[in-house]
Amino acid sequence: MRTLEQVLADGIRDIPDYPQQGVMFKDITPLLADHSGFAQVVDALAAFGRDDDGNPVVDKVVGIEARGFILAAPVALALGAGFVPVRKKGKLPAATYEESYALEYGEATIEVHQDAFTPGDRVLVIDDVLATGGTVEACLRLIRRCKAEVVDTAVLLELSFLPGRKRLAGEQLRALMTV
Ligand code: PRP
Repeated sequence: MRTLEQVLADGIRDIPDYPQQGVMFKDITPLLADHSGFAQVVDALAAFGRDDDGNPVVDKVVGIEARGFILAAPVALALGAGFVPVRKKGKLPAATYEESYALEYGEATIEVHQDAFTPGDRVLVIDDVLATGGTVEACLRLIRRCKAEVVDTAVLLELSFLPGRKRLAGEQLRALMTV
């Protein structure tokens, strides 16, 4: 079996100048198309929602739109937990809470359904990439507004040349791979 490091190195490719000049985009589609690699990654992410004996300790897994959905849904099933989508503004049909965060130019807003959690739910947050940390930070605020407890946050890839980890100081934050 390949190591997790090998799976990630094989499955995440750099696309220069996307979506704009000067940006190196991290494309995870080769990883998603690799069945055994994808399964290995889902197992590794799900491990953050288990105790030392391997028993699940979370009630809900949150996926952040859009690539976070692809990872978080199978993790939720693996843990026997529910899946909760955190979406970009305007996509969720029932009553929501919203949180905004600054982008390089302008701001972004994400939302969650107000009734997505039972108060006290233990939550694992999953996304593909941690860059500036603004998205995850806003997501954690949403979960806490719902009176749920964030147990852990895990990403596939952390971009360590950006200040995401610093911004999230004090939070439990895991990355399967750091560049
Ligand atoms: C990307 C990525 C993370 C976020 C990380 O999402 O999937 O959610 O940016 O950036 P940050 O740490 O600087 O907040 P994007 O908005 O591109 O959404 P997508 O998954 O729908 O492409």
